[in-house]
Amino acid sequence: MRKKTLSMVALAGATALTLAACGGGGDATDDGTAGGGETGAADGTTMRLSLNQTEEHPSFIALDNFGERLSEATDGRWDIEVYPNEVLGAQQESLQLVSEGGVEMAIVSGTQLENLNEDFLVFNLPKVFDDVEHQMSVVHDQEIVGDLYSSLEESDNLTVLGGFTQGARSVYTTSTAVETPADMAGMNLRVQESDLHIAMAEALGASATPMAFGEVYTALQSGVLDAGENNEVSYWTQKHFEVAPYWSYTNHLVGLDYLIINSDVLASMSEEDRAAFDEEWTAAYEEHTQLWDEATQDAIEQATAGGATFSEVDEEAFAEPLLALADQFINNDVQQALYDAARAAAE
Ligand code: GCU
Repeated sequence: MRKKTLSMVALAGATALTLAACGGGGDATDDGTAGGGETGAADGTTMRLSLNQTEEHPSFIALDNFGERLSEATDGRWDIEVYPNEVLGAQQESLQLVSEGGVEMAIVSGTQLENLNEDFLVFNLPKVFDDVEHQMSVVHDQEIVGDLYSSLEESDNLTVLGGFTQGARSVYTTSTAVETPADMAGMNLRVQESDLHIAMAEALGASATPMAFGEVYTALQSGVLDAGENNEVSYWTQKHFEVAPYWSYTNHLVGLDYLIINSDVLASMSEEDRAAFDEEWTAAYEEHTQLWDEATQDAIEQATAGGATFSEVDEEAFAEPLLALADQFINNDVQQALYDAARAAAE
């Protein structure tokens, strides 16, 4: 890790609540609840960022570099300390902590935001994005996402800044490669905590078990789960390939992570610092996208060397039930407009 050596082991012993109670050493805010993190050596504010990935993951690398550049660009007035591996809590807890101001920033999957505002579910639909490039062009187009990203400010004190791709997600199993939805009958497939993704598991032919990311390895190992679904990078970095070595390319979804920040903390930045922050965040998601392909190739190689097999599926057999989820879940005009805008950008 860059700069300060932070003892992850010591930190892991602290509960998220203790951290929340200690937070707020930085800038005072309107309602006095959300301080801007620790006061650093240069009297700047270090924002804590909660991440559920390892330090090898492109998200950690791009965010760590983001912090370094932000600190330089603001002469040390603002910095970011990335806490990987769920040490500040799984995504559901992190979302709560950022909302309350106990932690300043987090990366959370789109599925988490769908639980706060159902309009976010549109970007969690299978097949809404054709590929990473298409996804990135939509989720950073302010005309499309401006209202959506500010929609949690009043209700939850959260601002959404944009996204990192999760790449294409596929299914992997503990016992045998899958070719058609029928092969998944009777399998317990772990999904993220989202009604849409519970329905998606069923569309894939399986039974859904929603669960936090950090619990998946043990659940696969112990047989509570028969299958997971993710991208190759997490499959490798979380070591799921060790316990579920059969990867089947369902490519059912191009997933999306969001960077969220406590709205009071964001509002407390001077105009100049906010401009630097926006610029460096743009550079961060561009770097993340650049790192993604290589990280994916690398993950496939490493997992293969570790005994995993990667197989193609009958994509046609999976397509129809997955596409039907859009009709089933889109139930208001805002969602329809987001869906139409996303699809129009693909053409
Ligand atoms: C990906 C994604 C995470 C998410 C995880 C999951 O790794 O980047 O944000 O938590 O999938 O399946 O839970």
